[in-house]
Amino acid sequence: MIKRVAVIGAGTIGASWTAWFLSRGLEVVCSDPSPGAPDLIKRMVDGAWPILQRLGATPDADPTRWRFERDPAKAVEGAEFVQESAPERIEVKHAVLSTIDAVLPEKVVIASSTSGLLASRISERCRFPGRVVIGHPFNPPHLIPLVEVVGGAKGSPEAVRIAMEFYRAIGKHPIEIRKEVPGHLANRLQAALWREAAYLVEQGVASVEDVDAAISEGPGLRWALMGPHLTFHLAGGEGGMQNFANHLMPAVKSWWDDLGTPDTTPELVQTLVDGVQREAGGKTIRELAEWRDAALVRLLEARRG
Ligand SMILES: NC(=O)c1ccc[n+]([C@@H]2O[C@H](COP(=O)([O-])OP(=O)(O)OC[C@H]3O[C@@H](n4cnc5c(N)ncnc54)[C@H](O)[C@@H]3O)[C@@H](O)[C@H]2O)c1
Repeated sequence: MIKRVAVIGAGTIGASWTAWFLSRGLEVVCSDPSPGAPDLIKRMVDGAWPILQRLGATPDADPTRWRFERDPAKAVEGAEFVQESAPERIEVKHAVLSTIDAVLPEKVVIASSTSGLLASRISERCRFPGRVVIGHPFNPPHLIPLVEVVGGAKGSPEAVRIAMEFYRAIGKHPIEIRKEVPGHLANRLQAALWREAAYLVEQGVASVEDVDAAISEGPGLRWALMGPHLTFHLAGGEGGMQNFANHLMPAVKSWWDDLGTPDTTPELVQTLVDGVQREAGGKTIRELAEWRDAALVRLLEARRG
């Protein structure tokens, strides 16, 4: 059982990972070149702790069981798992991963939080590229259960297995992606929906607010409980997905054929910016994020019930 984790890069994502790891009874060593990082980690852990206790912190969880070590090579000494969350730039990933790979025993898995870079690319400068996997969380990782796990072309199935088992053991919901694709899985799905959403705005079919409501007041509520396939299985009545496919596949196919791609012009971006500002109704991004996170906690609890 993995008990000691190194978090390399402790900004928005790394600090949130740290909070989750601590809540699951792990010991964490964090590393980050920013002088403000220890403060950010402390604020994140302290701020999230009451929520993490509600969501099921383990009895041995301790919000102070972390320390800061600026030098990444020292931070990974004795680590049994590494979660890398450095900036999303290939040259930074190369530098960080080769530094920690050079000093870590081969059996220790290095998981990268990268949103879109491939494991094959970021592990190019490593001695042991096979132990580098993607462990992609969703913001904020201390609330959202999903972690996407995928290895690179030279990836070791054992490293993927260890990462899957680790995330599962600490209460995450890992999914294994069998082939590397840019954007992994969930970001591609989000991109597919956003493409059509922006296209509908561009074509004047509906306002930004109404396109958003078409998800958040409708199918989005069900999608928090089950994905698109299981949702349609239920839409098919007693005959389930087979019935749904028999009756509705031709109609859905005609909609698929009609989907569009917007022109990513400055005018479209301005329309989207104006739309979300109207929709936010004067609330700051921080206020909206706080409302979202508080509601997310209630939703996570409701799903358990
Ligand atoms: N923000 C999101 O919504 C989100 C979601 C999932 C995954 N990710 C991924 O997580 C990673 C981190 O993103 P973020 O949003 O936390 O960015 P961020 O800018 O908030 O944090 C990055 C941190 O890395 C530090 N850093 C800079 N150079 C470094 C180096 N050489 N070694 C170690 N640390 C270094 C920075 O000081 C900063 O604290 C990225 O790969 C990103 O794609 C982001």
